[in-house]
Formats: sequence, structure tokens, C-alpha cells
Amino acid sequence: MSDTLVNVTDLNVHFGTSHVLQDVSVSLGTGRTVGVVGESGSGKSTLAKALVGVVPASGGEIWVDGLDVRLATRRELAQYRRRIQMIPQDPFSSLSPRRTIAQTLAEAIEPGRGRVRPYQDRIAHWLERVGLDASMMHRYPHEFSGGQRQRIAIARGLIIDPSFVIADEITSALDVSVQAQVLELLADIRESLGLTMMFISHNLAVVQHVSDDVVVLYRGVVVEAGPVAQIFSSPQHWYTKALLEADPGSPGFTLDAPAA
Ligand SMILES: Nc1ncnc2c1ncn2[C@@H]1O[C@H](COP(=O)(O)OP(=O)(O)OP(=O)(O)O)[C@@H](O)[C@H]1O
Ligand SMILES: [Mg+2]
Repeated sequence: MSDTLVNVTDLNVHFGTSHVLQDVSVSLGTGRTVGVVGESGSGKSTLAKALVGVVPASGGEIWVDGLDVRLATRRELAQYRRRIQMIPQDPFSSLSPRRTIAQTLAEAIEPGRGRVRPYQDRIAHWLERVGLDASMMHRYPHEFSGGQRQRIAIARGLIIDPSFVIADEITSALDVSVQAQVLELLADIRESLGLTMMFISHNLAVVQHVSDDVVVLYRGVVVEAGPVAQIFSSPQHWYTKALLEADPGSPGFTLDAPAA
């Protein structure tokens, strides 16, 4: 058994009167990846934001990397957010258009200083690690394709050697063929670095590639959880079965409980 890095117990989140997460429990060992799946609005991003401490919980416990996130001081949270990384869905809006890639990666290493030179080798290494040419570091985001920008976002997330990574729908904005390449890259890096990661997607097939365990969220409730192989070979809950059969990538995709 590996050490537990993330332990969420009976987490509840309300937005006003709506109960967005209900008694959600997730635990994650060091070096493991948990996939979180569920259709749009099921609460996946809310779970991620609660883990980072930007969405307040109304009940339950959140422990990450030895920190009680709900009870942490402002200062502890600031330090904590330097040890964990969120890789965003849309790298175009999260990469500053006025910074070169090198400046963006340097900013991740040393916020607020704007120094590139001391980190040039490290930046070059990471660009190559995500399949880009090191000489591209002096270019701007608009000079890259969507898939390349997502690779840059992955490099930015990993260059600080985070103890925990949250990837929230990082391939959903990409073409299917590019998606597969980015997933393969992430699976490869995860393996070689032993990343501890929460991988969020509405697509169960996508989650399968990079996860050890899967948590299925339906309307803010965990309806099924377990090792990937088990979820795929013998899903127990109707919603998991429907996710396996449906194409959740299609517009307007929604699943409703069968009539009792
Ligand atoms: N800041 C907020 N204030 C009020 N309601 C919110 C807020 N953020 C999210 N919600 C609601 O909480 C529910 C869960 O949203 P969340 O973004 O976590 O879903 P998701 O599973 O990430 O969906 P998607 O696949 O579309 O990203 C939705 O009903 C959403 O409308
Ligand atoms: Mg979301």
C-alpha cells in the first residue's frame, strides 16, 4: 500500500440552495491517478476547486499532502498552492498572450520575478519532455496549435515538480486525433515521474488511458468507485453502464435516471 496523499471524506458543497457535492469521498495514494467522470454539471470541477481551497466546503474533510485544506490558514494555503498544480482545460485563455513561453514557464518557477536566464535549461528540458523543440521557448502562444499549447500548459504545470496535479478536461477542447497524442504524452510522463494526479473528464474512455482508479459522479454523488479494470469489466451502477455505452462527447449529452 502506498501512502495516502489525498483524502476527501464526506465532502459537501452548496452553492446557495443547490447541493452540488453530497458526501463525496475520494482517496488517492502517492504515485496514483484517480479519474473522475460524470456528465456536465455533475460537480467534477467543483471537487477540484474544493481540493485547491477556492470553493468552500459546507461539510466533510479535505486532506492533501498533510494539509487540512478546510482549516488551513491563508499562509498555509498560499504555500500549498505552490505544491499542487491545476492544468486547465483551455490553455489559450490561461497562457498570457504577451509573454513568451519561456517567460510563462519562468513565472511558474519563480512568480513575479520575470527572470528567464537562470531557468533556461530547465525550460528547454521541459519543452522537449512534452514533445516541443526547445528553440520554441521564445515564441508567443498564438504561434502554436491547440495541441501544442496544451503541451505547454502541461510543461508549466509540471516544471515546479508538484506533489499533486489536477487535470480538468485538458483534452476536451482538442480534436480527437490530437487528444490521443496529448493523452499518450500524459500517460508516459505520469509513468516516468510517478505523478499523483486527479484526471477529470466527462469521457470514461479517455479516463481509462491515464487512471488507476475511477470515481463516477452523478449529480454530485459518487455512484461508483474502484480500479479502472473493474469499472470497465463489471460496472455496477446504471449510470456507469450508460456512460460506457453512450458517447458523452456529443453536444447536449445528458443521462437521466431510468423510471423506477
Ligand atoms: N460558482 C458557482 N455558483 C453557483 N453554482 C455553481 C458555481 N459553480 C458551479 N455551479 C453549479 O454546480 C454544478 C456543478 O458544476 P461543475 O462546474 O462542478 O460541473 P462539472 O462536472 O465540472 O461540469 P462540466 O463537465 O461542464 O465542466 C452545476 O450545476 C453548476 O451550475
Ligand atoms: Mg468542469
